[in-house]
Amino acid sequence: MRLVFLGPPGAGKGTQAKALCEGWRIPHIATGDMLRSAKVSGKLPPSLAQQMNAGGLVPDSVVIDLIRDRIAEPDAARGFLFDGFPRTVPQAEALDDLLQTAGFALDAAVAIEVPEHLLIERATLRRIDKKTGQIYHLKYKPAPPGADLECRPDDAEEVVRQRLKTYVAMTSELLPYYQKRGILKRVSGEGGVDEVTARIRAVLGSRSKEDGKELAG
Ligand code: AP5
Repeated sequence: MRLVFLGPPGAGKGTQAKALCEGWRIPHIATGDMLRSAKVSGKLPPSLAQQMNAGGLVPDSVVIDLIRDRIAEPDAARGFLFDGFPRTVPQAEALDDLLQTAGFALDAAVAIEVPEHLLIERATLRRIDKKTGQIYHLKYKPAPPGADLECRPDDAEEVVRQRLKTYVAMTSELLPYYQKRGILKRVSGEGGVDEVTARIRAVLGSRSKEDGKELAG
């Protein structure tokens, strides 16, 4: 499986990607996580960290360099799931070029769609365990007692609204890009986590099941 997950902030891309990648045993590659790690380790220039905190995108070249290196790692040889990448048409074109050079192609681009009021609720009430990195939600997935939780700086409501605007502007070109290539799969992200996982498996069809069987054996 070579997949990309598209969707607005709080749509559940990370939640779904984790659940599915465990079964498929392919790496879940999230550019947001990679950029946050680079921010913590001081490898991301402060101006770009500020852009992230304000709900904007970092430049295409920065993300494409990260992906070029990551895709060359051995665990990506049998497949991968990109979460939050690509976000622009130049990023999508760069990914196509990288894959073509390696003799591969994307199987599907899954767009997870959720109404705006739910996105705001999911993002602003998300909390992360500082020690384990586990993602919780104050309403839908409460953390166990004693967990040391933090909130992402870009999950403040006004920043989430800005991220949503950025997403809408970006997808006006990105979704048609994958639609034209016949690999766009739209999935409703409303409802419980397991319900959404089942929908994603269904749109991926036999390919998803074949990989499951192969791994179970
Ligand atoms: P990134 O980390 O990718 O953020 P995002 O796309 O805005 O997505 P989120 O992580 O907010 O949401 P998610 O869809 O993964 O939801 P989750 O599963 O956590 O990017 C952050 C920033 O990095 C960007 O703004 C940009 O600056 C930069 N960046 C990253 N990639 C870039 C790129 N390619 N180019 C340029 N810049 C880039 O779920 C959210 C919450 O809801 C959780 O609490 C979860 O428990 C809960 N939840 C999930 N599903 C359900 C459900 N079905 N029911 C109830 N609750 C649910």
